[in-house]
Amino acid sequence: MQTLREAIEKAREKGVALGHFNVSDSNQFNAIIAAAVAANMPVVVGASEGERKFFGVRALAAVVASARASGVQVYLNADHTYSVELVKEAIDAGFDSVIFDGSHLPLEENIAQTREAVAYARGCGREVLVEGEIGRIGTSSKLLDKAPDDIDKELTSPDEAARFVRESGVDLLAPAVGTMHGRLKSGEMPRIDTKRIEEIREAAGVPLVLHGGSGSSDEDFVAAVRAGIALVHINTDIRVAYRKGIEAGLAKDADEITPYRFLAPGVEGVRQVTEQYIRLFARS
Ligand code: G3H
Ligand code: ZN
Repeated sequence: MQTLREAIEKAREKGVALGHFNVSDSNQFNAIIAAAVAANMPVVVGASEGERKFFGVRALAAVVASARASGVQVYLNADHTYSVELVKEAIDAGFDSVIFDGSHLPLEENIAQTREAVAYARGCGREVLVEGEIGRIGTSSKLLDKAPDDIDKELTSPDEAARFVRESGVDLLAPAVGTMHGRLKSGEMPRIDTKRIEEIREAAGVPLVLHGGSGSSDEDFVAAVRAGIALVHINTDIRVAYRKGIEAGLAKDADEITPYRFLAPGVEGVRQVTEQYIRLFARS
């Protein structure tokens, strides 16, 4: 199977992006795999620190290995990791990529700690990609009454992006380009600054990752991918689909206690939303 780096390069050559979807449990994982197989595209499965703790770091690595053994092109990412210690844990467990998220730190400190994560990845004996993050875009994949107060008013500048990549040595960069983690309950959609994506892509020289995908319009996604986004992160919409499906499964029969019956609509909801996004990002 091609490496994650190769899969990303190939997607960029074709002018498309890969989808990155977060999981908390094996039901969501199976739904995402089913979607990727149906769309015939490689997929990245991600788990944040909390999601990894719930799933089990090694258990998650094992289910990914098992899916790969059956021929699925799936890659595993340690999403938003705030300590070098947990970066090391994910790399040791066999993850394909890690995100050291120092976006809340002063730039110098972010660079210094990200560089430590990169050094560990380089020395681990296999190819593990490291993604760095600059610009605060919120921290929670949830339904929001309003935009969080602590997100940056100014988006990432191309100069800052170039410096961060040069000094940290990251393989992938997540800049702030207009999206935020979570989705506004009002339905309002923040706009993605596609011109800035082009400028950052040019200045940074590494593939760019769009975080905070849920809550953007299809048109903005297509334009962002054209402008240079290689990977798009979706979490909130996965969580919403899972919960809504399970609620529907429980509502159908108040006496239902068989998990595979009341969970099934949740799994199907995640499969559907994932497949739609994979196909959208693959639209060249
Ligand atoms: O890393 C995860 C993503 O950036 C998810 O963002 O919850 O807004 O889809 P989202
Ligand atoms: Zn994110």
